[in-house]
Amino acid sequence: MKISVKNLNKHFLQGKNTINVLNDVNLEIKSGEIIALLGKSGSGKTTMLSMLAGLDRPDQGSIIVDDQDLTKLSEEALCEYRAKKLGIVFQQFHLIPHLTAFENVLLSFEINGHEDKETAMKWLEMVGLKDRADHYPAMLSGGEQQRVAIARALSFGPPVLLADEPTGNLDVETGKSIIDILFKMVREKKITMILVTHDDELAAKADRIVRLIGGKCHS
Ligand SMILES: Nc1ncnc2c1ncn2[C@@H]1O[C@H](COP(=O)(O)OP(=O)(O)OP(=O)(O)O)[C@@H](O)[C@H]1O
Ligand SMILES: [Mg+2]
Repeated sequence: MKISVKNLNKHFLQGKNTINVLNDVNLEIKSGEIIALLGKSGSGKTTMLSMLAGLDRPDQGSIIVDDQDLTKLSEEALCEYRAKKLGIVFQQFHLIPHLTAFENVLLSFEINGHEDKETAMKWLEMVGLKDRADHYPAMLSGGEQQRVAIARALSFGPPVLLADEPTGNLDVETGKSIIDILFKMVREKKITMILVTHDDELAAKADRIVRLIGGKCHS
């Protein structure tokens, strides 16, 4: 699914100060393209992902996803867009603590209105956690929890994946192996991915590096 961001503006008020976090951002992302989004802390990377996820609204501009302008959709339509089209992986894994690994993965199907236990289990197997299916997040290591989060984000077949420093909380070795799993799956399924990272080595694996500097995107 291709994504077209046009003249996107977003400001925040901090006390008396206005910060223009996104300043006429333009970005074209091809279907199946993997973009690494870089930028120093506070440059607006998470803000940008929130806009793409329809979790926050811009002041101005448009975000066209497959001929649909997200900025014009109702909250209800945005919820449906997220449930059907988007996988999201955060820095903090955001698993539901009282659900097992398997139930966490199954949840993304339930939100979509159908239950596919077989596919949910297949994804846990793909991330190497089939034998941990009945374990609760607290019984899993950080790397294992993030693999469950990846399985949950991708299992229902979304065309787009947004990942905000998915390995930021993991040791380098574990981070690398998780990135390998992520890239393999995303390339196999031709998913469009926007990956926020601070890691140049990781960014080099993407099809294109985009830097957020002074509220603008530079490819
Ligand atoms: N809800 C908010 N209210 C006020 N200011 C905000 C809000 N959200 C973000 N900001 C500000 O916008 C700027 C960009 O924040 P953002 O979280 O997008 O940065 P980032 O590039 O993701 O940084 P990091 O690499 O540290 O995660 C920061 O100065 C932040 O303080
Ligand atoms: Mg951030």
